[in-house]
Amino acid sequence: MTTAASKQRAQVNPGTAGADARGTIFREVSPEQQAVEQQLVDHVVASFEACEDPRLKELMVALVKHLHSFIREVRLTEEEWGTAIDFLTKAGHITDDVRQEFILLSDTLGASMQTINVNNAAYADATEATVFGPFFVEDSPAIDNGGDMAFEAPGEPCWVEGTVTDTDGNRLAGARIEVWEADETGLYDVQYDAGKRAARAHLFTEADGSYRFWGLTPTPYPIPNDGPVGRMLDAVGRSPLRASHLHFMVSHEGARTLVTHIFPEGDPIGWKDTVFGVKQSLIKRFEPQAAGTPTPDGRVIDGTWSRVRFDIVLAPAGV
Ligand code: BEZ
Ligand code: FE
Repeated sequence: MTTAASKQRAQVNPGTAGADARGTIFREVSPEQQAVEQQLVDHVVASFEACEDPRLKELMVALVKHLHSFIREVRLTEEEWGTAIDFLTKAGHITDDVRQEFILLSDTLGASMQTINVNNAAYADATEATVFGPFFVEDSPAIDNGGDMAFEAPGEPCWVEGTVTDTDGNRLAGARIEVWEADETGLYDVQYDAGKRAARAHLFTEADGSYRFWGLTPTPYPIPNDGPVGRMLDAVGRSPLRASHLHFMVSHEGARTLVTHIFPEGDPIGWKDTVFGVKQSLIKRFEPQAAGTPTPDGRVIDGTWSRVRFDIVLAPAGV
């Protein structure tokens, strides 16, 4: 198909190259054409001049500059622009209270992970953060230490234990730990039924900062891939699978709230995680336990189980 943009490319003088104000090189674009394009960027940027909120102004100006830079760098065709609008329209149509296609898009482009990196700079030996994901719910059931967060969700039992400390090594009593995970079929409770609660819970650390609970040995699962993000992953030859993981959100007064996961060592997906959430420090050994091995809480349960230790260090609030 011959679009205005492709005609325009044919008309320009091959071999000339220039750069916009951000230093992006545009090849095969005549100086006259570059001037037209740059004039539009300057015009749009100037339209924010009267904005009274300096942060909003900074965001809008940078967004426009990067967006125009992208359009100019790839010489975006009108047909491609239409495809992008159609993609975003479909993402809007499939999004509702429980399905958030724009978060999936952000996650699969690494934008969620990059925002987390920017906002959770390394601090001393504080535990690293990773993606939040769309499956957290506010009203998880409470369990006691040693309780079972699976609530009969299918999967291999996993004993999880550790401590919560600050970066000076002080044990933090009463830290709130939210945990949630997919069951062995790859689904979260809310994917079965918005009101169902299983494989999620919250508990609090003891006076010595320790915690322990039963969960499920994590297994890989696909992100929801029956919408436009799934079609994008297909088109570019990427898998929708997430590395196996167990989600944590840990909070304590005076500490930076930590949103993270732990990932089993030797996971088949591992670094190929489709949302780029894996960090070396979050890979833990989930030790397999043979059937009949007595459990840490003094029981013998049917079948195999696993155990993992996750000692959590919280950075101070405001760093
Ligand atoms: C999750 O871990 O639950 C998740 C994260 C990003 C996209 C989809 C799911
Ligand atoms: Fe998850």
